[in-house]
Amino acid sequence: QQPVRIAPSILSADFARLGEEVRAIEAAGADYVHVDVMDGHFVPNLTIGPMVVKALRPHTTLPLDVHLMISPADPYLEAFAEAGADILTVHPEAGPHLHRSIQRIKALGKRAGVSLNPATPAKMLDYVLEELDLVLVMSVNPGFGGQSFITSQLRKIEAIRKAIDKTGKVIDLEVDGGIDASNARAVIDAGADVLVAGTATFRGGASHYAANIAGLRG
Ligand code: DX5
Ligand code: ZN
Repeated sequence: QQPVRIAPSILSADFARLGEEVRAIEAAGADYVHVDVMDGHFVPNLTIGPMVVKALRPHTTLPLDVHLMISPADPYLEAFAEAGADILTVHPEAGPHLHRSIQRIKALGKRAGVSLNPATPAKMLDYVLEELDLVLVMSVNPGFGGQSFITSQLRKIEAIRKAIDKTGKVIDLEVDGGIDASNARAVIDAGADVLVAGTATFRGGASHYAANIAGLRG
């Protein structure tokens, strides 16, 4: 388990001032910028595409952690890579060839992640884990910010922590959804080393970002 890193989800930022918001979270101590891409098909909401990632790129030196909630994902991997994404995370449910998607991301020179929905078992990772740079456990059903943390995911995080440790490789274990200062410690204790937080980062406005982020480190 690596030191805890915080990845604010810009889904809860002010979209009219996105560049400024990303600069503010970097100044406030964020480690990654989590970008939620939704297609209105894989999840019941629409957000942003590669053009917005490209527009954000010059505003931060932090890794852009792009969470693709789109199906299919493969036709868009290159566009997100070219736009400046550093990490590209796909869902196994989004396409029939997860291994191929991972290989494509790596061939583009980017870090590859796989995200599991709350009902998707950890064993989905059995034959791909060693290929990955990041595993993203969804602790809410993807689609919206501001939902409640699903506690059954703590067991999944524990199981994946053990599996990652067994590989002996450096693989981020990131958890996404419903994380706040009240449950961050439990998520870290279960084995997470990257916490995504939208609502809990952006609440209260820019003067609160540093304290909000610090409060998530457990
Ligand atoms: C949900 C997204 C999350 C979301 C988290 O589909 O993947 O990244 O923005 O938001 P909070 O922290 O508000 O639950
Ligand atoms: Zn996300």
